[in-house]
Amino acid sequence: MSCDLRVRIGPLELANPVGVASGTFGYGAEYEELVDLDALGAIYTKAVTKAPRPGNAVPRIVETPAGMLNSIGLANPGLEAFVDRKLPELRKLRAAVFVNVAGSSEDEYLEVVERIEAAAGPWAQPGSGAARSGVDGYEINVSCPNVRHGGLAFGTDPAQVERLTAAIRARTARALVVKLTPNVADVSPIARAAETGGADAVSLINTLVGMVIDVRRRRPALAMGTGGLSGPAVRPVGVACVHKAARAVKIPVIGLGGITCADDALQYLLAGASAVQVGTGTFVDPRTAAEVLAGVQAWMEAQGVARVEDIRGMLLA
Ligand SMILES: Cc1cc2nc3c(=O)[nH]c(=O)nc-3n(C[C@H](O)[C@H](O)[C@H](O)COP(=O)(O)O)c2cc1C
Repeated sequence: MSCDLRVRIGPLELANPVGVASGTFGYGAEYEELVDLDALGAIYTKAVTKAPRPGNAVPRIVETPAGMLNSIGLANPGLEAFVDRKLPELRKLRAAVFVNVAGSSEDEYLEVVERIEAAAGPWAQPGSGAARSGVDGYEINVSCPNVRHGGLAFGTDPAQVERLTAAIRARTARALVVKLTPNVADVSPIARAAETGGADAVSLINTLVGMVIDVRRRRPALAMGTGGLSGPAVRPVGVACVHKAARAVKIPVIGLGGITCADDALQYLLAGASAVQVGTGTFVDPRTAAEVLAGVQAWMEAQGVARVEDIRGMLLA
């Protein structure tokens, strides 16, 4: 039996449901000698911000039980360097590319999207034979603090999420994904706000706020004090958030957090996700995403599931 692995996100059709998560895969080219980039369902780039960011002071990574804590601080070369140096590389990829966008004000997000829209030019479906523009969609990281709103993260306030999503929607016809933070009491109103604002999908979860203290030095292990927890430790939180979000919205949900094998991905798909991303798992083994896809396909064949999009309706109460 040959399974249908295609997934639709707004105007975009992904060849398969397994992508690689922002901040864990650079801009794709970094992994080209280790991974068949063309076989990935999607590449979600490292964040792009208006100005270059060196990132936070070191140490900015520490291992935790079944995971890691990072305070990289959205280190990236900035918008102009992205357009000059990264975009031409992204045009060579066959896999769908989502550019992850971050900012500390609404204007910053909009400037990044407007400039990339102008530089990338018209969009065509991957695999259609038309020239690749390098950008198939945007993933909007709303976990950033809004400096004009007293540093409250955009993603913790439904009104801010809806307004930001609508403003970006007005500037692009490409697939628009809003990436949600789990650092809220309930993801449902935030997911609904993204949907109302015009998002084609939501992705979740971003990292959970955590802290590790070096007892001997009596100091936090990270220079910034706190960081974002990722890896297998966060997976049950991610699955629960996806389960909730998938029941709150009609748009597709993209699940991530702690995926290291096909069973992990299947948990997200059964919870209601249409697609998944592998993040920290790539640091352990760069082939994780490929193995996850092969395992999902094998499970579908064994279970007689014809379309990957059918999995999300298969969870028994
Ligand atoms: C080192 C590192 C850098 C990250 N950078 C970004 C980023 O720039 N933008 C973003 O939206 N998420 C970023 N993330 C979050 C991941 O994309 C993902 O949401 C999170 O790590 C949970 O998935 P995982 O457990 O599979 O890693 C980063 C995560 C890590 C570990």
